[in-house]
Amino acid sequence: PTNRQDRAKKQAAEAAIEFIQPGMIVGVGTGSTVNYFIDALANIKQEIEGAVSSSEASTQRLKDHGIPVYDLNGVGALQVYVDGADEITSQLHMIKGGGAALTREKIVAAVAETFICITDDSKQVEMLGDFPLPVEVIPMARSYVAREIVKLGGDPVYRDGVVTDNGNVILDVYNLHIDNPIELENKLNQITGVVTNGLFAARGADIALISNGDTLTTLH
Ligand code: A5P
Repeated sequence: PTNRQDRAKKQAAEAAIEFIQPGMIVGVGTGSTVNYFIDALANIKQEIEGAVSSSEASTQRLKDHGIPVYDLNGVGALQVYVDGADEITSQLHMIKGGGAALTREKIVAAVAETFICITDDSKQVEMLGDFPLPVEVIPMARSYVAREIVKLGGDPVYRDGVVTDNGNVILDVYNLHIDNPIELENKLNQITGVVTNGLFAARGADIALISNGDTLTTLH
């Protein structure tokens, strides 16, 4: 890639290949950084058993490369899950869901023993919340959930025209000062009609591979 950010995404993605062992079923996230990871995984596809995917988009890319994709329900344990993030802190708390795939991402992440986050350095933040927090909501609960989110101090905006892989809608929540991500993650989960919120804090990443395009930094 010619630009620095794409070079960074690719470097972080390729570094994650080091964590893939022969015979593994690999948990695969979603997004432009993960696309580089899928392309790198294709080079070692003879050595792995296959993948579990967090979105229709990643499933398609994996299959195009000839990598078998398994249903999560048929897979006992998953050693690693590799995914990007929209924001990540030094504590490895993240905001995810910019690509609307947050629910399946959170499910596959929950199963995996090790979450490896791959990002370019523009995603690294001191405090989460500049990136609007995605919340997946059952369609009929949209207005109710939005009113409850206002009570928590956020400004929810309906992501018009977007339907998730699960048939739900997304509210993007602006102006949150997320100084306690685990608490907010839990509070949002308490609102009836919320399927998933994009805070990955209660279960954050275990390892972050962050590149500036030249140098790779590993956080854990
Ligand atoms: C998808 O829903 C998100 O959680 C992605 O992980 C996130 O948007 C990162 O995407 P990029 O790698 O394209 O920045």
